Amino acid sequence: MDNASSPAVAVIGGSGLYELFDGPSERVEVATPFGDTVVLTSGELGGREILFLPRHGADHSVPPHLIPARSTIWALASLGVRALISTAAVGSLNPALPVGTIAVPDQLVDRTWGRRDSYFDGSTVRHLPFSDPFGSRLRELALQSCPELVDGATVLVIQGPRFSTRAESTINRTAGIDLVNMTLYPEAALAAELGIDMVALCLVTDVDSGETAEEAVTAETVFARLAEARPRLISAIARIAASVPRDYVARELIDRDAVAGVMAGRSR
Ligand code: ADE
Repeated sequence: MDNASSPAVAVIGGSGLYELFDGPSERVEVATPFGDTVVLTSGELGGREILFLPRHGADHSVPPHLIPARSTIWALASLGVRALISTAAVGSLNPALPVGTIAVPDQLVDRTWGRRDSYFDGSTVRHLPFSDPFGSRLRELALQSCPELVDGATVLVIQGPRFSTRAESTINRTAGIDLVNMTLYPEAALAAELGIDMVALCLVTDVDSGETAEEAVTAETVFARLAEARPRLISAIARIAASVPRDYVARELIDRDAVAGVMAGRSR
């Protein structure tokens, strides 16, 4: 197990990844300034102490548009997390990324609405540089430690919980989108605001809006493919976690005092 001085690594599990540890784990509860309590587990993977949290809840009871991402990311920051490995099921719009691929996106397009996506929406206003939405150094570590991962893709985050229509899918493909998901935003922006590097492991579970003209994507297909791929995802997570050095330096804080204010519960 790691010593206390090394930067904490956390994993957010997407659909199909509700448990991470084979060995013993401990329950960790964090009360947030947003009025709720985040429950995580702490355990060992890849020789590292890891914090884990299933994004949709342990019983998949939280839909994408109601995930309390501000609380989750705040809780991780309060526990000292600087490196976040986030898994997500995605549909593919790019034939070069077939079902079963695990891609590590480098770009994101947000088409969600009504989600609280900033800690700076009270009296403290700050503008997050977000041209590189994912943690560049953590992406490099992921790609070096897991050569089977595909480097680079643009992921579109839609509101959900419904999937896209065929017309939306066609428009998205024509616009150059590679992957479609419902949850990576606002997680990525909130992590960046609190100085956490996030890498997304996107498992392609389907060809968006249907693999043939007749067959539409369904939740059953997505869950079945996730179950198949679970060992590969966990193996990649373990290798990435093991590769995060003890002197890992995450992205710069946009404003140390402003972030300290958020962490002290002063900016809501
Ligand atoms: N998650 C998995 N497959 C998806 C798709 N086709 N669209 C949006 N989110 C998804």
